[in-house]
Formats: sequence, C-alpha cells, structure tokens
Amino acid sequence: MNRKPFIAGNWKMHKTIAEAVSLVNAILLNLPDPQEIDVAVAPPFTALAAVAEAIKDTPLKLSAQNLFWEKEGAYTGEISPLMLKDVGCEYVIIGHSERRQYFGETNEMINKKVKAALTFGLKPILCVGERLEEREEGKTFEVVKRQLLGGLAGLAPEEVLKTTIAYEPVWAIGTGKTASPTQAQEVHAFLRNLLTKNWSKEIAQKVRILYGGSIKPENIKVLMQEEDVDGGLVGGASLKAESFVRICNFKGD
Ligand code: PGA
Repeated sequence: MNRKPFIAGNWKMHKTIAEAVSLVNAILLNLPDPQEIDVAVAPPFTALAAVAEAIKDTPLKLSAQNLFWEKEGAYTGEISPLMLKDVGCEYVIIGHSERRQYFGETNEMINKKVKAALTFGLKPILCVGERLEEREEGKTFEVVKRQLLGGLAGLAPEEVLKTTIAYEPVWAIGTGKTASPTQAQEVHAFLRNLLTKNWSKEIAQKVRILYGGSIKPENIKVLMQEEDVDGGLVGGASLKAESFVRICNFKGD
C-alpha cells in the first residue's frame, strides 16, 4: 500500500502573527511537490487567520493544535470546531501528550474532541504515546492501545479513514532523543494491526501513522524508510523554515 507521506509542523505556543506569516512565507518558497507529499502547519490560535490568508491558493495545509467539543456556548476561553473550520483549518491535532499531561485530557475527552472535529469536517490528528516509565515497565503497547481505541471509540469506518494517527513517545518529545527507526516501526505496526482488528485491513492500510519526537533533517529519512512510518509530526524543528523544509524535502535531501 502506498500511503502519501504527511509532514505536519506543530508550532505549540510559539510565534506572534507577524512571525507566523514570515515563517509560512519562507516555507512556501521551498515546499516539496504536493503530488508527492502533504505538508501542514499548526500555528497557535491567534495566528490561524493570518496564516490561512498567507497560504490561500497554495498546497500548504492548515491545522489547529486543539479544540473544544461543543459548537458554541458558555465555555470561556475555548475554541470550537465550527470556529476552526470557519478560519480555514483542514486538520486539528488532538490529544497531544502536553494536553494530556498539563491540561488533564483523558481518553474520554479526547474521544469527544475527535468526534466533534469529524462532525464539523475537520480531520483529526490523534496523538498517542507512552511516558518513559511506562516504556521501562514494559507497558508501551498497553498504553498506546488504550489511547488509540479510546480516542477512536465509536467511529464509523469512513471516519477512521479521515483520521491521522501520530505516535509520539513522550520521552522523545523536545528531548533530542528520537525513537530508533526499529522502536518506531514496532509501535506503528502494532497500531496498524489494532486498526485492522477493530475496523478492517483496508482501512488500516489507508490510515497514515506519523512519528513524532525530536524529528530533525538528519533523522527523518531513516524513520521514513520504515514500512509503517508515513510521515512526521514535528515540533522544535518546525519553528525554522530552514529545518522544516529540509524535513519536508527528505526524499531529495
Ligand atoms: P519535538 O515535538 O519535535 O520538539 O520533539 C514533537 C511534538 O510534540 O509534536
């Protein structure tokens, strides 16, 4: 199965509006062939409108980093899927480990967010990944299974097809410590197998599973050589055009 590679830049809580626009303008200068690879950026909420405008009529895709599951209402400080659709987002990252760790997001909340995103025509990027102590205790598969099946609970086959999975081992995020290609591949294969068992082989073969955690221009190529690694969710290295476009152009690098 030939899945189209997908690289997404997660800017986290970085970039003012002016910085965000200048970063996407620089990325646009060196975007790879859109027939070959999908590329998205996920700026903070405050820069979404300006970035949407800057990337209009280009192949660069827009993602948000989070949402709340209601359409509207008295939820001070929250952003709804309708608002993200309205501003021009195609994707939304859901269940990032920083959301789970610092903001108390549970698999139940994440499942509500995934469903809300799909209801409003947004494509979820569902993040899963074990913490260091969980890996050391041999619980990696158990943890990612709970996160994957919890996050996707109750989804119809066509909804799963619209979803991207990102495997991000927490110990590899922002630490400079990347999972080895073999470590990534064994979890990716396990996740794909879960999709086969719970939906179908056809669906499992189509869903893209990204790796995330200290991706750099120097390590993307070997990760992408693995059978079940279909792309990357890039944090730190997505904040500079130079490193991000090198990652996006990994085929020619
Ligand atoms: P990192 O972050 O590339 O800085 O490790 C990845 C992520 O958290 O999505």
